[in-house]
Amino acid sequence: MSAGRRALPDFRVPNMARMYDYYLGGKDNFPADREAAERVIAAYPLTRVLAVQNRRFLERAVDYLAGQGIRQFVDLGSGLPTSPCVHELARKLQQDARVVYVDNDPVVTVHREAMCGGYDRVAVIKGDIRWPQEILTDRRLTRLIDFSEPVAFLCVAVLHFITDDQHPRDIVAALRWRMAPGSYLVISHAAADEADTRILGEIAEAYKGAAPTVPRSLAAVGELFSGLELVEPGLTDAGRWRHATPWDGTSIRILAGVGRKPR
Ligand SMILES: C[S@@+](CC[C@H](N)C(=O)[O-])C[C@H]1O[C@@H](n2cnc3c(N)ncnc32)[C@H](O)[C@@H]1O
Repeated sequence: MSAGRRALPDFRVPNMARMYDYYLGGKDNFPADREAAERVIAAYPLTRVLAVQNRRFLERAVDYLAGQGIRQFVDLGSGLPTSPCVHELARKLQQDARVVYVDNDPVVTVHREAMCGGYDRVAVIKGDIRWPQEILTDRRLTRLIDFSEPVAFLCVAVLHFITDDQHPRDIVAALRWRMAPGSYLVISHAAADEADTRILGEIAEAYKGAAPTVPRSLAAVGELFSGLELVEPGLTDAGRWRHATPWDGTSIRILAGVGRKPR
């Protein structure tokens, strides 16, 4: 490679953001992503339903938070742009909402910058939640987000790609520490207390090369909210959070909750 040229991403390798895009019916994916995603769907046919429920949860959570007066949002592991985006949702109720999108995938951030970077009071950062302090002190973020005011951190469908030795509890502790009283932490997370280990093995195998998959127990996901007050209805399936879903319980669950830092 000649000096000054960046290596191109290898689109022959599956990628978690593009696999998720495929589950949602998006077009920003390649054959390797579709093939890996189809293997996940073959192992667990409700995968697409869970992905859509996850995204709808994010939308309802942002709507709820904007209704609570939140005007600052940091979307961590924001993924490829999916309509409606967080700034569009938040601005339905809070016209001056400030939104920072963060992802560690360079293709995602380029795409996000192209789609959302031109909006006023929106920033896009390539950052890794495993190093939260770097994100929290990034000038592009601190120019927009005033941590003396309430903020909402979104960690939606991202922490189950963080292994235990990457310390997800420390990541959320760093966010919690930065949150002014009255701030919120939004989490959705795969849980598999009741899932067949064979299915989980097949899913992990399909994601190989893309990401480690780390479903956690209901109790372990609940611990991520420690120090916060869970708003109603508490930690529940994404499809059931402030919503009625026609689906029965699934063995692999996307647990979802919104915690508020007490005043
Ligand atoms: C399944 S997508 C979720 C997208 C969006 N949050 C949603 O729920 O609709 C997971 C995203 O997290 C990003 N991600 C994974 N690990 C990350 C990390 N360590 N730091 C920042 N982003 C990460 C991936 O690149 C991907 O875009």
